[in-house]
Amino acid sequence: TTLTVQEGEGFCSVEGTIDSNHEGFGGSGFANTDNKYGASVAYSINADHAHSALLDIRYAATSDRPADIEVNGTVVGTVYLPATGAWSSWNSENMTVPLQAGENQIRLIAQTESGLPNIDAITV
Ligand code: GCU
Ligand code: CA
Repeated sequence: TTLTVQEGEGFCSVEGTIDSNHEGFGGSGFANTDNKYGASVAYSINADHAHSALLDIRYAATSDRPADIEVNGTVVGTVYLPATGAWSSWNSENMTVPLQAGENQIRLIAQTESGLPNIDAITV
């Protein structure tokens, strides 16, 4: 199954706002973090069994905005999230993450002082 998590079910929190001022996003908006190092957005994803899953991040940014990916409190990797060219141009990057059976807390954590890109959705 493919589960897409946006603002709404599965979305937990953003250190910032949910905005809708740049077109091309799905659902009712996207997560816009504060522009600072360590700013994060958090999601909750349910897995029916423990497995490695491809985590897809749909985002937009006008500068490169690398992010650490934390799963259940442990940083499991970094995604580079290169600039997409415009705030209304959305691209996806992915990485494989380990999920446990049941609920998983996924957090994207900004690795530059620009904060995260604007995040439309994550999909596993
Ligand atoms: C602009 C843009 C925001 C974005 C921000 C940023 O203000 O409108 O959507 O989040 O830049 O640099 O992070
Ligand atoms: Ca921002």
